[in-house]
Amino acid sequence: MAFLELKRVTKSFGGLVANHNISFSVEKGELVGLIGPNGAGKTTLFNCISGVYPVTSGRIFFDGEDITDLKAHEVARKGLARTFQVYVASGDLTVLENVMVGCFMHTRSRARALDQAREILKDLRIDDLAEALVHELPVASQKQVTMATAIGTRPELLLLDEVAAGLNPNEIEEIMESIRHVHENLSMTVMLIEHVMDLVMNVSHRIVVLDYGKKIAEGRPDAISKDPAVIKAYLGERYVRDHAGEWE
Ligand SMILES: Nc1ncnc2c1ncn2[C@@H]1O[C@H](COP(=O)(O)OP(=O)(O)OP(=O)(O)O)[C@@H](O)[C@H]1O
Ligand SMILES: [Mg+2]
Repeated sequence: MAFLELKRVTKSFGGLVANHNISFSVEKGELVGLIGPNGAGKTTLFNCISGVYPVTSGRIFFDGEDITDLKAHEVARKGLARTFQVYVASGDLTVLENVMVGCFMHTRSRARALDQAREILKDLRIDDLAEALVHELPVASQKQVTMATAIGTRPELLLLDEVAAGLNPNEIEEIMESIRHVHENLSMTVMLIEHVMDLVMNVSHRIVVLDYGKKIAEGRPDAISKDPAVIKAYLGERYVRDHAGEWE
């Protein structure tokens, strides 16, 4: 069985089927992108995987275990962390303290949590923000903090929901490096939702595409960028013309 396995996962909100019979798997060590138009059901799927929402039907397996009916905190304990697309900074915590909250999931020692949090901030090259209050930071930086906090829990599987939204090209380059770094050096399996195509096409080994709650394609970035159904639903003819020859 794969590291993460979804079997015919369906999530309905009343009459709206946000995820419809979605099946795919992620192998340990993979970096998988999840793309699709607004409202396609990407965040909902992360909410189902991470136990934030109960699924309507289907099963989810993580590391050989059926986690379908676990609550969010139980899923987190199993080694799965996620960031939130809409992040609301809580209270008056500094960036460093925020990341320490993540670290406290596996240590009770304040000194150790402090060391680890500093290390993560350095890794993500945001150590200059350590003493800043999270809620006073621009949204883009807050996203980096959520990623740092998730990494602090030392997950084996990290789900990132649009961490590059609102970033400028330089910042995108930096967060791309951060994602590669956590994937390679911290040996985390990563799944990321992203509308910034340069990022998702460049870092992903494989991409899953959703449209209106259904999986419409799955494959390597180069194949996905040429897939007629994906072009029609999401990428558009213009995008493909502008990027012809990339990701080969
Ligand atoms: N808690 C909820 N209650 C009711 N409907 C919801 C809820 N969460 C999501 N939806 C609906 O489910 C569908 C999928 O939404 P979702 O947020 O998963 O899309 P998405 O692919 O993440 O979109 P985006 O790219 O804009 O973030 C949408 O029609 C949305 O309105
Ligand atoms: Mg979303």
